[in-house]
Formats: sequence, C-alpha cells, structure tokens
Amino acid sequence: MTQISSNNALAKQILEAGDLVAIPTETVYGLAANAFSETAVKMIFALKKRPLFNPLIVHIAAVADLNKIVRNVPPLALELAKAFWPGPLTLLLEKTDAIPDVVSAGNKTVAVRIPNQPLTLELLKSLAFPLAAPSANPFMSISPTKPEHVKNYFDGQLKLILDGGICENGIESTIIGFDKNQAVLYREGSLEISAIEKITGKLLLPKINVPESVPAPGMLKRHYAPKTPLILTANYKTTVMKNSQKRVGVMTFTEVENQSENTIYRFLSKNETLKEAASNFYATLIELDQLNLDVIVANYLPNVGLGKTMNDRLERASAH
Ligand code: TXA
Ligand code: MG
Repeated sequence: MTQISSNNALAKQILEAGDLVAIPTETVYGLAANAFSETAVKMIFALKKRPLFNPLIVHIAAVADLNKIVRNVPPLALELAKAFWPGPLTLLLEKTDAIPDVVSAGNKTVAVRIPNQPLTLELLKSLAFPLAAPSANPFMSISPTKPEHVKNYFDGQLKLILDGGICENGIESTIIGFDKNQAVLYREGSLEISAIEKITGKLLLPKINVPESVPAPGMLKRHYAPKTPLILTANYKTTVMKNSQKRVGVMTFTEVENQSENTIYRFLSKNETLKEAASNFYATLIELDQLNLDVIVANYLPNVGLGKTMNDRLERASAH
C-alpha cells in the first residue's frame, strides 16, 4: 500500500531506514532517497527505470550545507544561490567524495538546489543527510504535480507520498552550470532566464562534444511524453480538421472559440498568464493522456519566458 499523507516524522523514519519517499517541491514531485547512500540512490534508478547515465539533483536545507557536498563554488554561483534559494534553480557544482558517483552519474559536478516547499524544507532540516531526488515519474514520462499522479505511477512500490498538495510552479527547476565564472544554461525551467541574466549577464549554452549515442545529461530528445501520440502545432484548428476521424484532445494556452464537436478541449490559463499555464501544464497533459484518445493536439504557447520552457517540453514530448 502506498500512503499519501503529510506525516513528516514518518517520511524521516522511512528515509533514515534507507528507503524511498516521494516529496513535494514547488516545481514537481520528487522521488527521494538519502543522497549519501549509494544503495538507497540505486533504488531510485531501479524504480524509475532510469538509465544510470542520467544524474540526479541533490536537495539541501540551507546554503551552509553546500560545504559538505561541493567545493570550489564559483562566486557567481553563490550570488545566484543567495538570490534564488529556496527556489526553482539548480546549480551544477564540483562535487566532493561525500556524494557517491552514482548520484552524479560519474560527472565531476553534482546538481544541487534548495526547494521552496514548507513541508519538504522542514523534512530536509530534520535529516542528517541531503536528499537525491529526480522527478517522481517513470523514465521519459510526464512529471507529477499532484500526489495522485505519483500514486498512479508507483502504487504499491513506494511506502509514502508526502502530501504537499499541488505543486505551485508545475515545471521543473532551471539548471545552470559554470564554465569558469561564466553561467551556462543546461535546462530551461520555472525560474525565468531573464531573472537569472540580470545577475549573470547573457547565459551560454553548453558545449556538447559527446557522440550522438551518448545523450548529454538532461537533453534527451524524447522526454516528458504521454502514452497518447502528441502532435505539436502552431495551428490546432487545421490539425483538428486533418484528424476529424479520430478522437482528439486539444490543449491550448487560453480558451478558444468555435470548438469542434467530438473534440475535447483543455485550456491552460483562465487569466491568460504563462505562470498559471505552467502550474496546470503537466496535470493537463496527464489528464488528457488518461482519456484514451487517439491523439493529443497541443498548440505552441507564446514563445517567451515560461512559454518557451513549455514549448521545449512539448517538443520533447512529441519527439520520436
Ligand atoms: O524541479 C526539479 O528540478 C525536480 C525537483 C524534484 O527538484 N527534479 C528534476 O529532476 O526535475 P530530474 O532528475 O527529473 O531532472 C534532473 C536533470 C536531469 O535531466 C539530469 O540529467 C540533469 O538534471 N543533471 C543532473 N546532474 C547533472 C550534471 N552533473 N550535469 C548535467 N546535468 C545534470
Ligand atoms: Mg524528470
């Protein structure tokens, strides 16, 4: 039985016993284990069916906890940490031996952040170790933003889903690495680039010199994917017409008029804000995916700020 509850003492007990707990964050739910325990961390990879080349994010309670797990922190990284932690920003920093190689998938850097979720922050403060936690979904599928999403994925395979309700941001953290003291963007996320660039100046993109067969961490082409085929389009109307013989679900930014019959529509934002759209984004995709449709038609969002991030996720979700 998988329990959904906000019992932090139970979460602590399970984690201290070397087992896994799903934890809420402001971005998406995470599948957490003691980051210092290779055995516990390997259980995360096994449950998610995640390949060992894909490293995890380590969650800490306070900036002071950095000393134990990383070294040679660039001044710019500290500035970013001070500006945005707790919050949806992950920093790639040179790891110490305290972090087992399995956490960083053999990389010299480890991904670190302080999540901005009261229950999880309290849990982290009560523990003597940080928590390694990727998103709490099977490899390649859609990230969970509600406890029920996690339960659907892992029912019976996990003792506890710590109930923090709906994730406020709804999109994963933004990942920043460093090339000397220059900031590099590894993954767009729910902290907007413009806010980061106010501190760092223009972000660079990572230099990727690995062969095609070895995907660079965090950059898998297909990811965040529903089981239902997903078509990403700039013109949902034409796409709906072309698929008129099929059972179609449409996802758009705001409410649309002239809806076709026999087509299901879901709108990401009533207030026409990208922030609201982001918070509904994965939940809406998961909901459409559960309706046994022939196809999901997603319309591109405005390609700015969080809209750009969601378009990135949709491109990966529709990739083959
Ligand atoms: O918001 C989030 O970041 C959520 C919550 C739970 O914190 N976590 C999350 O984890 O999205 P995950 O594992 O689904 O995505 C982490 C990404 C992966 O794509 C991984 O490849 C990348 O971070 N990553 C981790 N360590 C890295 C490293 N050393 N170098 C490059 N990429 C790294
Ligand atoms: Mg993930």
